[in-house]
Amino acid sequence: MQINRVTVIGAGIMGHGIAEVVSMAGFPVVLEDAFPEALKKAEGSLKASLERMKKSGKISDAAYSEIIGRISFSSNMAEAVRDADLVIEAVPEIPDLKVSVIKDITANCRADAIVASNTSNIRISTLAGHAQSPERVLGLHFFNPPVIMKLVEVIKSDRTAQDVFDATYEFSKKIGKTPIKVLKDSPGFVVNRINAPESLLFCLLLDRNMAKPEEIDAFAKSQGLPMGPYELMDYVGIDTVVHSLEYYADTLDKEYGKCTYFNRFMKSGKLGLKSGSGFYVWENGHAKIPEAKPANVLDLMDILSVEINEAVKIIEEGVAQPADIEIGVKLGMNRPFGPISVAEGLTNAEIKKKLTTLSQKFDTKIFYPAKSIESGKLREVISGKAKTPEAPKAAETHAAEHTEQSGEPVRLERNEKTRVAHLILNNTKNNLINSEVLASLEKHLKNLWNDHEINVIIVRGEGNNLSAGAQLTQFFSGPMDFSENSRVGERVFRLLSEIPKITIAEMKGFTLGGGFELSIWCDIRVATPETTIGFPETTLGLVPGWGGSQRLSKLLGMSRAAYLILTGERFDGKYAHEIGLVSRIFDKEKLAEETDRLGEELAWKIAPVSAAMAKKLIYKGSEMGADDGLEMESVAMGLLYGTDDLKEGISAFLQKRKPEYKGR
Ligand SMILES: NC(=O)c1ccc[n+]([C@@H]2O[C@H](COP(=O)([O-])OP(=O)(O)OC[C@H]3O[C@@H](n4cnc5c(N)ncnc54)[C@H](O)[C@@H]3O)[C@@H](O)[C@H]2O)c1
Repeated sequence: MQINRVTVIGAGIMGHGIAEVVSMAGFPVVLEDAFPEALKKAEGSLKASLERMKKSGKISDAAYSEIIGRISFSSNMAEAVRDADLVIEAVPEIPDLKVSVIKDITANCRADAIVASNTSNIRISTLAGHAQSPERVLGLHFFNPPVIMKLVEVIKSDRTAQDVFDATYEFSKKIGKTPIKVLKDSPGFVVNRINAPESLLFCLLLDRNMAKPEEIDAFAKSQGLPMGPYELMDYVGIDTVVHSLEYYADTLDKEYGKCTYFNRFMKSGKLGLKSGSGFYVWENGHAKIPEAKPANVLDLMDILSVEINEAVKIIEEGVAQPADIEIGVKLGMNRPFGPISVAEGLTNAEIKKKLTTLSQKFDTKIFYPAKSIESGKLREVISGKAKTPEAPKAAETHAAEHTEQSGEPVRLERNEKTRVAHLILNNTKNNLINSEVLASLEKHLKNLWNDHEINVIIVRGEGNNLSAGAQLTQFFSGPMDFSENSRVGERVFRLLSEIPKITIAEMKGFTLGGGFELSIWCDIRVATPETTIGFPETTLGLVPGWGGSQRLSKLLGMSRAAYLILTGERFDGKYAHEIGLVSRIFDKEKLAEETDRLGEELAWKIAPVSAAMAKKLIYKGSEMGADDGLEMESVAMGLLYGTDDLKEGISAFLQKRKPEYKGR
């Protein structure tokens, strides 16, 4: 199913922007509007936008003419849709109007054309119900302004055909957008649905006279949000917010109708930017926000918990997969993190407590914890592992394209024959380290601790990198939380030096920041000449916080450690070998093979009891005075004297055979 010719119905704010995006991607597009003056305005806005791009050097003079040349304007719907492969309707958000427009489109377009609605909230199934071929109708929700916002939600109705969905999804990529899959038709889809309970919360705050808009906005900005919620609602239009809440009250939960405070603004014509005033007075496109102290009636966790709760409900209902929700909120709300990564940094218990309190405080069940949070299954749900009653089949979702995590983020592979275990990082393309990776690593190391079949552990990364570092987009609720994350990383990485087995870090590709720290806690490091190593933390306003600031100087001495940490300089495996950080250097193509060979050799050659004792003597000894260290060494010798491994080692040596150590 090829999409080449596109028609956009409705040349307003969204319609003209969508036509611009489509034409910029090289597709011919017809822009239709029932009102000629709207078409004229759209043409002016389109040209002004392209002029701006031309001036800033984003497009050439030739490209400008080509883009304009591909757009034709029409006020005849039947003609406009006749040859289209894809028709996108962007008429006002009035259900009856949309139903009749979609009916008209499907009556006039080709039988095999795809018909998409840019509705913000209305269920596609409701709109498609009256179409001639509902299976060819779906949602294609752009964000404002379409030229800038990368996100589109591709929405399946109860009846949308899979090939229609797939073709539209692929087309969205061709026009330079990042599509997410909305697999089940829900009011508000993903991003607006996650916003819905927040709108209610902000309405209730004013309704109960708990704070002024400027105080809440000052608070939101103090927490790093790009725009305060009331400024944003003014920008979007208070009428839009009111209509959305009314629609959610009808379709999702009648408690969305609980707060009517915003309706008063709407009734008095205060709609925000478009009417010149709303919560604030607007001048030259900017809100005049009175100076205010940040409100203290809520904290960031309240807002984020409400978002997480709605995200969990969406997953439970099978509307979208966690990875798509994360991308949707990040791109749709211009945030550095979405609700899934925020939830990863919090416990089920704290979110549940927050939501229960909010639900009681505002007397609404909308904030009450979702089923999975109520039953302590937050982790399973956000990792996509929980069986939700209506969750879409994996084959249907294709979520793997975005999936930053599939299965466990660290895989354990143990081989009793070779006595070598592999811990393989498998989290995102660059094996970024987050709290889930740490938890998984800790679990495996604890399981391996008394595993007498395993003598050597190789830490490896799936793909081309060991690890490019910590996942910086992970959310932390405050300094204590961030500090705790550092403590957890230190504790887990340290296990690699304490575990009574030889640990080998296979440093390849990017081995940066947290990935570099992971490797320096191992006993032995191997690399390729090309491995890229370094501590970029100080260039980001951080310090190596998983033991790197302490351990590197133990390995390399203070001078080298200070240089590498204070310059943030990247260096290669060859240099790492020269300064003794890396013990063996292997060709890139043979890295895994040679590392395994080394591991297998040490696994039979080195007596496990000796490895365990030697590690203690080296690492603990480096923290004590020479006398104590030497005393510890002689005690260790005494302990080794009675072991089976010592007897076996000596008799194998005398008999010129391979020893068979038991670790006793
Ligand atoms: N504005 C936003 O921020 C935004 C963001 C995402 C999605 N949307 C959705 O996009 C759609 C359009 O919103 P908008 O903000 O562009 O609205 P708009 O009012 O700016 O534009 C709507 C256009 O549709 C035209 N129109 C009305 N009836 C028509 C008909 N029968 N046939 C052809 N044209 C007709 C109007 O003349 C107008 O030009 C809505 O569904 C809205 O919810 C809006």
